[in-house]
Amino acid sequence: MVISGGRPLSGTVRAAGAKNAALPAIFASLLTSEPLLLTRVPRLRDVETALELVQSLGKEVHWRGEELEIREQAPPSPVAPEAPVRRMRASFLVLGPLLARLGRARVPHPGGCAIGPRPVDLHLEGLAALGGEIQARQGWVEARTAGLVGRTVYLDFPSVGATEQLLLAGALARGETVILNPAREPEVVDLSRLLSAMGAEVVWGEDRVVIRGRKELAGAHWEVIPDRIEAGTYLLAGAITGGRVRACGVVPRHLAALLVKFDQAGLEVEVGEDWVEVAASGRARGVHLETGPYPGFPTDLQPPMVSFLAVAEGESSVTERVFASRFGHVGELMRMGARMRLQGATLLIDGVEELTPARVRAPDIRAGAALVLAALAARGTSEIEGTEHLARGYQGLPEKLRALGAEVELCRTNCR
Ligand code: UD1
Repeated sequence: MVISGGRPLSGTVRAAGAKNAALPAIFASLLTSEPLLLTRVPRLRDVETALELVQSLGKEVHWRGEELEIREQAPPSPVAPEAPVRRMRASFLVLGPLLARLGRARVPHPGGCAIGPRPVDLHLEGLAALGGEIQARQGWVEARTAGLVGRTVYLDFPSVGATEQLLLAGALARGETVILNPAREPEVVDLSRLLSAMGAEVVWGEDRVVIRGRKELAGAHWEVIPDRIEAGTYLLAGAITGGRVRACGVVPRHLAALLVKFDQAGLEVEVGEDWVEVAASGRARGVHLETGPYPGFPTDLQPPMVSFLAVAEGESSVTERVFASRFGHVGELMRMGARMRLQGATLLIDGVEELTPARVRAPDIRAGAALVLAALAARGTSEIEGTEHLARGYQGLPEKLRALGAEVELCRTNCR
């Protein structure tokens, strides 16, 4: 991607459906033989991977614009193919539904990834507590059960994936599954609502979520929630370029942690019923933040936020509390003139007045977004390699940026 930066972005951008809500919704289709109709589904590489996976397990899929229908063509296979699971960690979520519905499942171990080791121990301990006999061998996870039974499971960390895995499995388990210390990300809550629409009973409490399973689940018609991470990225693009960007079609409270930091940084923030607008006049001030489980500051916005703080006035600090090594963007940002240094899990940032254009490489989706933002701010032409990562998570990124006034070109080979 070639970006000629240095111009303020302004205008309105409509949020796509949330990738991280669409993926578990697609896997929920495995819980039922009835059709599932999903609307506001983002057209993304990761969504294609999820569809490839459910198709290989016996589903057929039909797109009509942003509407997606998933139907059962044949009874599901209990064995998940290796390629899509290795390509996308979230694919591991097929384990719970297959085990709950078929009594057995064989799924490749997802392995590590660019942002840390990311084990699946909480998923496996939780499924074992519900009566799954789990064995991990030669890169595969094999699970069997004579029937899952609801139990109380405590999560050491409110893991998004583990909570979703247990909600999916619990929806077809006998009795009540109680998850203590669950993740409360909007995407997790959205999945729980979809499962309710399919016939399971879900009740959220102060410290728990309880799901009462059904023997069989029905199909449903479901609209995916807006993508708060995508919307936040465009707001940050406006902020870093000293412009004014409105994100519409969003749920503003899902963006609360980011908006508080914008306010502390001295930006103008306006909030409507389903939109948020952020405007920068003059240079923003540095801020201090820690990422954390929702409603904490989202780790997925940490990399783009770091780019924004790289040019804010004074010192900032960003502590990453969710992932062990999510600072792949830092070295590349330093090549663009950012002044920052890592101290354990904390990144100390000494804001510079301007970033300089460079040729950089995106190591993962959100670090890629961070580099796009930095390039939009740096006066001159930057080249970002590794844009296949961006296609995993941002629908129509070049088009949406251009609509805000950015000069962006996506090239298949080297543009020069
Ligand atoms: C999901 C999101 C991802 C987001 C993350 C945190 C999807 C498809 N991805 O990822 O974009 O950054 O939530 O909001 O929704 N952990 C364990 N053992 C486990 C599971 C997790 O130790 O069994 C650890 C992880 O290594 C990590 C932390 O818990 O350090 C958070 O992971 P988790 O919340 O599970 O994230 P994901 O579901 O992988």
